[in-house]
Amino acid sequence: MHLTRQEEKMCQGEYGEAIRKSMEIIVALGDIYQAGGLVNITSAQVSGVSYKTIGDAGLEYLEEIASCRAKTRVPSTLNPAGIDLENWEKLGFSAEFSQHQQRIVEAYGKMDVMTTCTCTPYLIGNVPLKGSHIAWSESSAVAYANSILGARTNREGGPSALAAAICGKTADYGYHLSQNRLTDLIVEVKCDLKGIDYDSLGYLIGKNVKEGRPYFKLKNRPIIDNLKGLGAALASSGAVALYHIEGITPEYQDAAPEEAEDKIIIDQVELDSVKKELSTTTDTPDLICLGCPHASLEEIRYVAEILENKTLKNDLWLCTSINMKHAAARMGYAQIIEEAGGKLVFDTCMVVAPIEELDYKVIGVNSAKAANYVPNLCGLEVVYDDLPALLDLN
Ligand code: F3S
Repeated sequence: MHLTRQEEKMCQGEYGEAIRKSMEIIVALGDIYQAGGLVNITSAQVSGVSYKTIGDAGLEYLEEIASCRAKTRVPSTLNPAGIDLENWEKLGFSAEFSQHQQRIVEAYGKMDVMTTCTCTPYLIGNVPLKGSHIAWSESSAVAYANSILGARTNREGGPSALAAAICGKTADYGYHLSQNRLTDLIVEVKCDLKGIDYDSLGYLIGKNVKEGRPYFKLKNRPIIDNLKGLGAALASSGAVALYHIEGITPEYQDAAPEEAEDKIIIDQVELDSVKKELSTTTDTPDLICLGCPHASLEEIRYVAEILENKTLKNDLWLCTSINMKHAAARMGYAQIIEEAGGKLVFDTCMVVAPIEELDYKVIGVNSAKAANYVPNLCGLEVVYDDLPALLDLN
């Protein structure tokens, strides 16, 4: 792999130990994937935050690299942590877990990774331009950045995204190259999509195409909230990092669909079948978890509208970023949700929080990604359905 003189010096430790260690990771990946060289990045998004998923080994690594005075060189935001950093006690998380979690977030903060703790960084200002090279690691955000923003990123791991943030560079392979951004499969959807249909579609296609690059022909125009659910599902049942939608996404005209060899046709019956496939029980959920990926202000408004002057019989968490939570409080949505018995939870989510340590058995979700992950990662039963069907209201 070709390195510039400056990059060689970075590898040799002339710019400090943190950059040397980070370059080691980037160059190793570049060698594995036969990159021609490195590219400068304009943005990073770093996963590997929850103490539940990275444990003591991850905590020690982060504290060690932070102690080398590592600093990010490009705007970098952080994925959700394992707790709501302010209200962890009220939600029932243990002090021990929370202390470890706080240390992880502090280590990232020392390196100037913005501790916004959200998987929807594109809703809070980390919005790279079309064609820019970036290093993002949250799989749903990677799908969004490549597909909706037209930025270029591979599915980085947490350590490689952090290394890229510290060096301001990543290896030039995979989705950074134009020839790897073409479609290989057409998906024609025969019905109008509404509610969780977008998630169900993503789940079905992700399972089918694995790492493919589907090109969707839809009957209706989606909104951003639909697309974040579609991409999250594609990236979780498969490993889709890039998709195109005819007439919608920025690179659909360059995607060369006429050369795609395969075509899938999807109808409403198949979409409806996903509810049954992903639900592990028909029992009533004792906790409803919304906001996977983290909710937008518009989604919070929708929940507030449904809950106004009602009382919830089941618990409800609406997961979002600290930014949306503050905006929702100003708009009065947070109060409506709390008066109905729900909670706006920020910094974390139903998958990366140790929710299995709380007293819940059945989690209701309207996200195919969450439904896919909760049984395995949390060991709990799950019901996957549209929001109105999940709610039990007085
Ligand atoms: Fe985000 Fe957690 Fe879902 S990180 S995409 S809310 S599993």
